[in-house]
Amino acid sequence: MTITQPPRGAIEACDTEPAFPANLIDPATLVDVAGLVDLAKALVAGDKGLLAMDESTPTCNERFAAAGIEQNEPARRAYRQLLVGTPGLCECISGAILYDETIRQHTSYGVPFAQAVADAGIIPGVKVDIGETALAAHPGEQVTEGLDGLVDRLGEYHQMGARFAKWRAVFTIGNHTPTSGCIDANASGLARYAAVCQQAGLVPVVEPEVLMAGDHNLARCEEVTEAVLRAVFAHLADQRVALEAMILKPNMVLPGSACPTQSGVEEVADATLRCLRRAVPAAVPGVAFLSGGQPGQLASARLNACNLRFPSAPWELAFSFARAIQHPALEIWGGDRANVTAAQNALYHRARCNQAARRGEYRPVMERTQRS
Ligand code: 13P
Repeated sequence: MTITQPPRGAIEACDTEPAFPANLIDPATLVDVAGLVDLAKALVAGDKGLLAMDESTPTCNERFAAAGIEQNEPARRAYRQLLVGTPGLCECISGAILYDETIRQHTSYGVPFAQAVADAGIIPGVKVDIGETALAAHPGEQVTEGLDGLVDRLGEYHQMGARFAKWRAVFTIGNHTPTSGCIDANASGLARYAAVCQQAGLVPVVEPEVLMAGDHNLARCEEVTEAVLRAVFAHLADQRVALEAMILKPNMVLPGSACPTQSGVEEVADATLRCLRRAVPAAVPGVAFLSGGQPGQLASARLNACNLRFPSAPWELAFSFARAIQHPALEIWGGDRANVTAAQNALYHRARCNQAARRGEYRPVMERTQRS
């Protein structure tokens, strides 16, 4: 009998493998894994969730323009101050994700924003990717940038008070997309970012977003989301990211916004949880969904169905919404100081609804009981 020897390269690769398993972080390179694990758990503890208020300046300006609000730095600062200053927000919100511009600003009272967030009883975080660019040789697909200089930027953000970070990668569903090249490039970027974050003492929020745009159906979104999540977790393992010290921020599994068949909330919850169970290791403490352009009440109802139908899921099923939690507040504010309290009440209301959804206790009737 002939015994085939493994190729020489394979033996060399094994010989150089470190003594610790590939999915655990090298203790020598990470100062306080336990601290990061506690922080990750705190971000998804109880019935709270994250407030994503990290729209880039172009995106924020776009939303301001749609609401008839001036698009300038003082307006963006005033709006972010309104959000952070919402009375009682910390009852429902554990962490707030800031944008680079915001974390460098001071409130009108002269308090640095990260400090204002912490003073409100909320953990400050920051978006650290620098956005998407066209992926070479992959027409219509994008890759997220921001790894250059990331170590230094994270050190600076940590000094400013940020304790967690976020990086978003996007995937478009089309007849031939996302391609394996796009999935691999973005999954690799997410994993390298996450490893650098943990080394710098920040909890990474890993956000692979399969976009809702398109006429694909629920099954196609499930198939793509599963492929993306599998690739992301393979790269996270390769990069020795401690899964216990990160948060996953995925899309819910949804039919495309132009799909003629819009699934019910239970169907969405079932597809979402089936997909997560197959692809997300139980060591991850929390899944904090993005809203992705869903109307606020529908996002709450779908989050509620996830928690109601899967109370023993291995991860906390939380939220990290931007549009679905902020939209009514932004519209009500409209750039007018006189509307600040009403806008804050609208934000608080959506936060309360999502908090109830975390417990599986959200009911549409709640929408009629907003504080004034
Ligand atoms: P949406 O909830 O509006 O999708 O925003 C979440 C987010 O943080 C996008 O990066």
